[in-house]
Amino acid sequence: MTGEILTIQVGQCGNHVGKQFWDQLTKEHGIGKDGQILESSNGNSTDRIFREDDTNPFFKQYQENKYTPRAIMIDLEPSVINDNINYFPDFFDPRGTWVSKDRYGAGNSWANGYDEGQKNQDIFLNMIDKQLDSTENFEGFQLLHSVAGGTGSGLGSNLLEALADRYQKKLLTTYSVFPSDQSEVVVQPYNTILTLRRLAEDSDASVVFDNNALSNLSGRVFQKNQTDYNQTNQLIASVLSSTTNSVRFPSYLYSSLQSIFSTLIPSPELHFLTPAFTPFTSDYITGGMDYKRNTAYDILLDLIDEPNSLVSKHSKKPIYLNVFCTIIGDIERNDISRGINKIQQRLQFAAWSPTIIHVNNGRRSNYLKNLHGNQSQVNGMMLANSSGIVPLFEKVCGSFDKIYSKKAFLNAFQQSENFDADDFIESREVARSLIEEYTAAEEKSYLDEVLLEDENVIGEFNENNNEVDAEGDNIM
Ligand code: GTP
Repeated sequence: MTGEILTIQVGQCGNHVGKQFWDQLTKEHGIGKDGQILESSNGNSTDRIFREDDTNPFFKQYQENKYTPRAIMIDLEPSVINDNINYFPDFFDPRGTWVSKDRYGAGNSWANGYDEGQKNQDIFLNMIDKQLDSTENFEGFQLLHSVAGGTGSGLGSNLLEALADRYQKKLLTTYSVFPSDQSEVVVQPYNTILTLRRLAEDSDASVVFDNNALSNLSGRVFQKNQTDYNQTNQLIASVLSSTTNSVRFPSYLYSSLQSIFSTLIPSPELHFLTPAFTPFTSDYITGGMDYKRNTAYDILLDLIDEPNSLVSKHSKKPIYLNVFCTIIGDIERNDISRGINKIQQRLQFAAWSPTIIHVNNGRRSNYLKNLHGNQSQVNGMMLANSSGIVPLFEKVCGSFDKIYSKKAFLNAFQQSENFDADDFIESREVARSLIEEYTAAEEKSYLDEVLLEDENVIGEFNENNNEVDAEGDNIM
């Protein structure tokens, strides 16, 4: 049985993104905004017996034909959560919703968010435990948040620490939005570096988005100069829904999130993933164009084109460690093999990496076909683990160094109950070592170095010939 996933939405961005995510999931599973099963075109309710999909990983069912998302919504101010509740009346479980009584937000300070997280940690863990009571084979968490405000970053960081500590064996993933270059708030670099540390230390896999790439991409797909968060977040939701496609429309492969992320992550430190998606058709975004002639081959090649990435790339060619793609729709197997061959030639993989492009053939929901016409559509999503993430980390460090070297804007942090000033230095150090790890992973010798680190050695290390005796029996 596929395990259940609990989605935790924190702060304005996390809850905004969550809205689009649940909007997409309800469409794909034929569920109305109130959680009721929708009538199909022939007048029958889309009864579970006839379903090809598995709603259980993301929804619980208290009554027949009524679905409730496995979700926790947390914010320090009420507007976005209220908007979600109005948009989806009687959908979210009130026991999974928490808004601060003070209702002021964290004022864009990580430290305020962290304090609130600490103060209310028992309440949050209790809310989470209540959601886990309705699971039989709980797989893990996915946190949706921004790293740059106060609540999603600070409260989100505190929650990540608590979850990593309390549910050590469960998968802990994040979908983390990094800020654009036009920093709206001066302390964003502080918030970002402190959160990056928690992503590095406490999450098992972090799918990264950056608002620069998102605003360029949404300008293009929505064909507008100015787009709003509702639109941007539909792009993020497209990645989220297609990452989980094989869990919700089960097949033999990739039936758990663990199986997807473990193909992508060669060692625990290297767990930052960059997403790409194409094309954004009406299955995924409002007013999307439909492309009827795409083959899996076209889509696979489009996915490695820079403009389809949801993280800005930079001039230096990244070295790839692992790649996972989901191609959704009816496709020819042969097109996939041709696409894989071509990508293997075009992308540069680390010499130690197996250079396998993992491709899952995802299913296009029948409910989407009813909604948007039964024409054949093919969409693709790629998650890549590559050194292409390094420029983003460098940018985060550069912005931090600029203000921290002057010890500027430290007030909010100094007043905090739980903030230790060394956290800045330690977080900066974690960011530096992340950059180093990804840079080292570009080298042929990376795996040797990883193997030689004590905790990674299985068997005994022979110092005379620099080899590892796997059995420890002196036979190499
Ligand atoms: P406080 O407002 O301090 O309580 O924290 P918060 O976590 O609620 O803040 P927020 O989520 O607004 O984080 C601010 C950062 O997130 C900025 O970089 C914004 O550009 C970005 N952001 C806010 N909302 C959204 C959203 O809906 N989508 C995207 N892509 N980015 C968002």
